[in-house]
Amino acid sequence: MIDASSSPSHTRRDFLSAIGAMSAMRLVADERWKTIAAHGADAHTARVARGLAAPEDFLFAPELVYLQTGSLGPTPRPVMERTIAVWKELERNPSFYGYGAQEHAMDDVRASAARFLGCKTDEILLTRCTTDGMNTLAQGLTFATGDRVLTTDQEHPGGRHCWDYVARRYGVAIDVVPIPPGENDASAIVDRFAKAITPRTRVLSFSHLLSSTGLRMPVVQLSALARAHGCLAIVDGAQSVGGIPVDVKALGCHAYATSGHKWLLGPKGTGLLYLSEELGERVDLVSAAPNHAAYGDGTGVTSIPSVLGLGAALEYLSAIGMERVEAHNLGLRNRLFAALYDVPTIRVVSAPAGPLASGLVTFRLPDDRESRAFQLTMRERHNVELKMVPKNWMNGIRVSTHLFNTEQDVDQLITALKRELA
Ligand SMILES: Cc1ncc(COP(=O)(O)O)c(C=O)c1O
Repeated sequence: MIDASSSPSHTRRDFLSAIGAMSAMRLVADERWKTIAAHGADAHTARVARGLAAPEDFLFAPELVYLQTGSLGPTPRPVMERTIAVWKELERNPSFYGYGAQEHAMDDVRASAARFLGCKTDEILLTRCTTDGMNTLAQGLTFATGDRVLTTDQEHPGGRHCWDYVARRYGVAIDVVPIPPGENDASAIVDRFAKAITPRTRVLSFSHLLSSTGLRMPVVQLSALARAHGCLAIVDGAQSVGGIPVDVKALGCHAYATSGHKWLLGPKGTGLLYLSEELGERVDLVSAAPNHAAYGDGTGVTSIPSVLGLGAALEYLSAIGMERVEAHNLGLRNRLFAALYDVPTIRVVSAPAGPLASGLVTFRLPDDRESRAFQLTMRERHNVELKMVPKNWMNGIRVSTHLFNTEQDVDQLITALKRELA
């Protein structure tokens, strides 16, 4: 493996210039914020057509109203350009860069992710997605027949599949806490979990924000509950990181998995897994390097440009500021939530504005409108991209509001819904 410290000076210069480009990107974003702060929201609205972002930052098809970050987020232009620049550099001398400066830069991305999530660099692993993180963790744990895992009936398959595997592999039983659509009581959820814990329960596994309704789960209380019973608290953070500030230490969980390609706006096929160091030898990962480094015997080569692109995405969001992103997203979802009351025949199942709300809002359609067909209609007739929640579950539609969305996007959605459902 080539050590970057022995790189010829011209390649080191290239690498430093790439890092310089990232700093420049941050400066541009900072400048944008200074302008917005100096001239107020009106100037911002006039200058910036994409919510908190510059109009040129997103590459959407003309007129598309994209309200589907919960499934796949868009990658802003500066992040994409950084990813492509890394790839081009890599191709100049693949082994030199791939096992040299770029490998070290991937560990810098782990350090950035650790700052973003409030933990140590050695507690961060690079993954392909949330599902990959959850699978990696579950496969690294050891269970005995008769152990139990406690989860909810609202988990996405990406957060549930790993426990089904563990159930098959070890004869572990899975207990399920129901969270009915429309639930709006965090303490009732904690009580249900508390009642479902048994002496054989080893793991409490739940989402931070429910994929189905966006409900913000009481992660702090559930993690404390898990600890009080000697269980692990494992969080599926696919819908949270990048949309709301997340501090894994403050949450008190043992592990937290997320995707780079949803709210973080990073390249597709990227993800992060936080493994608290207190897990110690309770987790034995097959695909890991010492200190969870980006590259090692157990990891093999990963998608280097995508990982470095994820680092650029973390910078992009940090430059705007996660508190600001969350406030923006909640402002839009609250506007949407209020306006949905005037749309005939639908029933909103997400929490009202308040502590359980997030940038995801879900509503049920009337029985005579099937969600998949309705999703297509909204795309084809109105140029609005939405998530459908299947008919056999909720027959609903889920809306995601993120930093590039605007009040106009929300109003356009409402107008289209009224037209379709009148
Ligand atoms: C809560 C939750 N977990 C896991 C996933 C799976 O994400 P990925 O495909 O990035 O692994 C999703 C995707 O929507 C999700 O909402």
